Amino acid sequence: MTRTNKTTSRPQGNDFNTVSEQSRRNFLKGSTAALGLFMAASPVASAVAAASKKPLLNFKGLPASTADTFVVPEGYTATPLISWGDPILSGAPAFDPSGKQSSAAQAGQFGDNTDGMSLFPLANDRALLAVNNEYTNYDLLFDHGGKAMTADDVKKAQAACGVSVFEIRRDGNGQWNYVQGGQYNRRITAYTEMEMTGPAAGHALLKTAADPTGKKILGTFNNCANGQTPWGTYLTCEENFDGFFSSASEVELSRAQKRYGLRTDKDRYQWHKHDARFDLAQNPNEANRFGWVVEIDPMGPTSTPKKRSALGRFKHENAALTLDNSGHAVVYLGDDERGEHLYRFVSKGKYNPANNAANRELLAEGTLYVARFNAAEGELKGKGEWLELSHGKNGLTAENGFDDQASVLIHAREAATQVGATTMDRPEWVAVHPDNRSVCCTLTNNKHRGKKANQPLGGPNPRAENNYGQIVRWYPPKGNHTSNQFDWDLFLIAGNPELNSGLYAGSQNITKDNMFNSPDGIGFDKEGRLWIQTDGNYSNSGEFAGMGNNQMLCADPATGEIRRFATGPVACEITGQAFSEDQRTLFVGVQHPGEKGKPSHFPAGGNSKPRSTIMAIRRNDGGVIGS
Ligand code: FEO
Ligand code: CA
Ligand code: CA
Repeated sequence: MTRTNKTTSRPQGNDFNTVSEQSRRNFLKGSTAALGLFMAASPVASAVAAASKKPLLNFKGLPASTADTFVVPEGYTATPLISWGDPILSGAPAFDPSGKQSSAAQAGQFGDNTDGMSLFPLANDRALLAVNNEYTNYDLLFDHGGKAMTADDVKKAQAACGVSVFEIRRDGNGQWNYVQGGQYNRRITAYTEMEMTGPAAGHALLKTAADPTGKKILGTFNNCANGQTPWGTYLTCEENFDGFFSSASEVELSRAQKRYGLRTDKDRYQWHKHDARFDLAQNPNEANRFGWVVEIDPMGPTSTPKKRSALGRFKHENAALTLDNSGHAVVYLGDDERGEHLYRFVSKGKYNPANNAANRELLAEGTLYVARFNAAEGELKGKGEWLELSHGKNGLTAENGFDDQASVLIHAREAATQVGATTMDRPEWVAVHPDNRSVCCTLTNNKHRGKKANQPLGGPNPRAENNYGQIVRWYPPKGNHTSNQFDWDLFLIAGNPELNSGLYAGSQNITKDNMFNSPDGIGFDKEGRLWIQTDGNYSNSGEFAGMGNNQMLCADPATGEIRRFATGPVACEITGQAFSEDQRTLFVGVQHPGEKGKPSHFPAGGNSKPRSTIMAIRRNDGGVIGS
């Protein structure tokens, strides 16, 4: 099937922001027709830029791949750093592929489904990696595939989730290896004790029989993407927490519970059968204690992780933190669900480089906002505004079901609807450009767009039944991240130019050689390259023909050029990225190779069990990755 759209020409998908700020503003103000004129004039500017600066991307782009291997460009080498089940803590046993290992063994080993990660330097050749372990694959975790769950099996699944912190060291050959038993090594699981902080701490909706204080929460899970603060902490973000709750009893679910996806007719993880916390009939408030951003001190192996209620409860993707010129910490946050929203948190206090103890409480208090994108019909750019989610403002009152600020935050999705936020095509990761002037967010895909009444076509979500995804970019005025206004455009629209025309072909920077679908993980390196990871349809057929396995791409934000940098093995998602301080090693996560029984033996090959793995990528000549 091929698809066309009433827009016959392909959108540019990039504003060539190497040219002057004034030109950029003119572009942002212009119509689609003006965009064509602007583009006609741009080669001069590009030539000037090219003469004065070496191109940002200096590697040979890869073709799409359907092989069961991890491929990097010519002149690069990728090696596994750590795989699910490798021992992290002293005394933990080696990985045993039988599926019979105990919960205690898993609690000392690297968790499953590697996801977002951050690197914390300790010395030139020593660092910590803090890594999310999003969820776990029962067909690989258990010899019975989840069909005969015992209490210890539930405990083991809970230990396979959460966060892993471990030391890595660079050897004389420049190769990073992980260190079992490092002094900071730690496993954080679904039963590690945590503290709830901020306006929702101690609220009635967070109290349970086991925790009448509403402040002492056990664990974190479905840790999707991440964030890193300038004060040395790690942010882990709880995404699809709803799937871990269920009940064998009849439960009348509230509107809010349904909005967060809770149900009793699904039973994928079966935790409620052996752990009453996860039984919605017995402990309805337990689910309110998940869906938060959690702040962890990676250098404090016995420190208590802090859930940050001021950042709102939803299905968090990542937490992209930047320091505004004013000194406020600003955190951009996506809620990954069809038709959900994009958020911004602004801290009440200001960053003080001389007072790290105070910095460490910056995320406890502040103001949450949600985005509304405005655009004329058919325009792929426009203006937007941040709408405040504070009790008593914008209709967030008791009459509308919001008794206090805690209920606004616990039910942030409903608050966002109340204030008129734009429903988005699944906001995944957000990344702030190192010049602090622009911000990107992946909108991964949305089959409901144009079909559900609350998800009309328009603005940054222009395609019906959006199967390819796009990246929206916004510009805080003069780089002021606390302003409630912004300009936006689309950096790219993924598509298939071999099959389609118009919007489904993608923006002009999408070609037969770099096409992909479902952008998800993104991050900028220090030099401003945008690294894009995909979690999409890997069938390589139909609408997705020519795209191959999930992959990682690299884009030049100024020229819009995109090259494919890495391709993953069969049935994986590529997610999680962290650079060594010197940008000469790039760590990339390969999550769930061989998911749902598909034929992968990554990374060990032969007949081995597939294992989620972090790859360490280096240039053979030791150079900066991508340059
Ligand atoms: Fe865990 Fe939305 O990805
Ligand atoms: Ca993701
Ligand atoms: Ca995804």
